[in-house]
Amino acid sequence: MKALIVGAGHMGGGIAQVMAAAGHRTYLNDINLAIVNRRLDAIAGWLAQSVQKGKISEAERAETLANIIPSTDLGDAENCDIVFEAVIENLELKAEIFRKLDEVTKPGCILASNTSSLSITQLAEQTERPGQVIGLHFMNPVPLMKLVELIRGTATTDETFTAVQTLALSLGKTPVEVRDVPGFVLNRVLQVMINEAIYCYYEDVASAEGIDTVMKLGANHPMGPLALADLIGLDTVLYILEVMHEVYGDEKYRPCPLLKEYVAKGWLGKKAGRGFYVYE
Ligand SMILES: NC(=O)c1ccc[n+]([C@@H]2O[C@H](COP(=O)([O-])OP(=O)(O)OC[C@H]3O[C@@H](n4cnc5c(N)ncnc54)[C@H](O)[C@@H]3O)[C@@H](O)[C@H]2O)c1
Repeated sequence: MKALIVGAGHMGGGIAQVMAAAGHRTYLNDINLAIVNRRLDAIAGWLAQSVQKGKISEAERAETLANIIPSTDLGDAENCDIVFEAVIENLELKAEIFRKLDEVTKPGCILASNTSSLSITQLAEQTERPGQVIGLHFMNPVPLMKLVELIRGTATTDETFTAVQTLALSLGKTPVEVRDVPGFVLNRVLQVMINEAIYCYYEDVASAEGIDTVMKLGANHPMGPLALADLIGLDTVLYILEVMHEVYGDEKYRPCPLLKEYVAKGWLGKKAGRGFYVYE
């Protein structure tokens, strides 16, 4: 299978890595080569560590890297069987990319979005092939996390659903079908908890470390909610909360003012070197 990933960020890089490791020729596309190369370096570093830990062989490392082709031209999707869209969580941008992908890909090519909160039906409506559009929501970090949420738009065909479900299983993932509602299941539950943790910090209920320790030791979470928010990216957390707040019209999704302040300051979490914690 030939694939193209649009967006060489955390998620796009992870999807490219698992697709390439499974033997698929995979274009990794972003707006410029410097971004793609930075992500390729990160993937190379991850694979080198996996060899050191004895998780993969040297040959598997080399084969995975060789399967990833850098791209800055969406036209590279012309012969692909599937395209994964993983650009930032912004409806206008994703809609524009779906319109372009519909023009450049061959008939029958599946267009999958990794959106965390936006409507798959709305993205599908940008194209002349709504039957081949689907949500395939991977978790971060993609190579480690088993879950994918599978989301049908109103027109997604059974054939598309089965093809993507089979692909997800072949990548070692556990697909769960969820309805096309903002935030699906994972983010409806998770982001409310993260937002509440940010409110606790904002109201000085405890330090960031204190809040994360409470949730790790008290609720047995492997990672505290503030560290997790930093890992996801605070811009992504804010955008998902804003979408759910607007669409559901429920105050429980109202983003904490501190989250807005951090995002406005460019404190986007780990990827920016600063969020609730400071990173090297
Ligand atoms: N971060 C997470 O934990 C997480 C988890 C699941 C799903 N998601 C979803 O995955 C998607 C990507 O999130 P991310 O965390 O990887 O974001 P990110 O900010 O790390 O990466 C987004 C990438 O998209 C690129 N991009 C922007 N415009 C583009 C264009 N026109 N063409 C090609 N590339 C373009 C950016 O340059 C950037 O490299 C979002 O929809 C997000 O909601 C994120």
